[in-house]
Amino acid sequence: MALVPKHIRNLSPYIPGMTIDEVKRKFALDKIVKLASNENPLGPSPKALKYVIDNLDNSHRYPDSYAFKLRSKLADIYDLKIDNVVLGGGSEGIMSVIMRTFLHDNDEIISAENSFIGFRVLANASGIKTNWVPMKNYHYDLDALASNINDKTKIIYLANPDNPTGTYFNKSMFNNFMELVPNRVLVILDEAYFEYTENLNDFPNSMLYRYDNVITLRTFSKAYGLAGFRVGYGFGHKELIDSLMKVKLPFEPSSPAQLAAFASLDDLEFLSNTIKNNSLGMQKLLNSLKNYNTIPSVTNFITIIFDNNSEAHDFTGFMLSNGVIVRNLKGFGLENCVRISVGTDNDNNFFCEVLNKLNKGH
Ligand SMILES: Cc1ncc(COP(=O)(O)O)c(C=O)c1O
Repeated sequence: MALVPKHIRNLSPYIPGMTIDEVKRKFALDKIVKLASNENPLGPSPKALKYVIDNLDNSHRYPDSYAFKLRSKLADIYDLKIDNVVLGGGSEGIMSVIMRTFLHDNDEIISAENSFIGFRVLANASGIKTNWVPMKNYHYDLDALASNINDKTKIIYLANPDNPTGTYFNKSMFNNFMELVPNRVLVILDEAYFEYTENLNDFPNSMLYRYDNVITLRTFSKAYGLAGFRVGYGFGHKELIDSLMKVKLPFEPSSPAQLAAFASLDDLEFLSNTIKNNSLGMQKLLNSLKNYNTIPSVTNFITIIFDNNSEAHDFTGFMLSNGVIVRNLKGFGLENCVRISVGTDNDNNFFCEVLNKLNKGH
């Protein structure tokens, strides 16, 4: 249809993993464990949920479009001004606003080939030319990304740590890279899994840098357990944030999302249990997978590299038919890989049981 621009016609639709209900119906199973979307297996913080429920009376009113309470709280925590903080419908929502705010027809984007699929969808839908730079052994190749910068480059997207590989680039790699990036180029530093990196001394926590051309994105969807609320946040120079505030949808995030995020920032016990559950669970998954080739991960998921696409396909199918939903990474361009999110201890045990069954030839 002539009405639809070519770059939209050529887009492949995003294919999400199967839901718990779909798998239950398809395989007539009682027990399903979902380890497919890097969510927090402990659920949302109970304190955050209670705060939302206790404060729903004003739901007939539009949300505070300035989101004063949540932005001020984030500004306090990170020692910034409220003008340096932007919120959105998930960090992906902010990514989309960044694209609409800063990109023009002849601008170009640079990112890594097999990185976060959400960014790839946004870049392809924008119609803006994007240089997809191959990764090196499942890591960002920052030198190659920098050498792709040209006069038209406007945005570079980096996910650190990355999804779906789970790998990260360290402080010195980041410092070297930033020396090669001109000030006129905006770097989106997506730190969706930041909370899981707290024990890494060489992780470049972007909040300890103050580059005028970097926007840091973080989210309440992972360690804070609020994926369904859709709330993410970004930090940057006041002028960048002012521009985003002009373009973003005024009433995102919704009031319940703002409430949940606000209260979850106080539930430090929940956050620390989340991190603890993740490191124990990661260890358990890694032990059970020691005969598989896995990519070292600093996140809440682990990716297995199979010899070929059909092995990855069979593994995913076996897991699914036995009630474990894992993520086949074909859609990310990694046809021979499967990603498994860390679950609760029970979830992880169930995964290990099914894996044993598979290893024993069913
Ligand atoms: C690297 C990365 N960035 C962003 C997101 C999206 O997070 P949000 O739920 O905040 O939109 C994800 C979710 O999987 C992710 O893996």
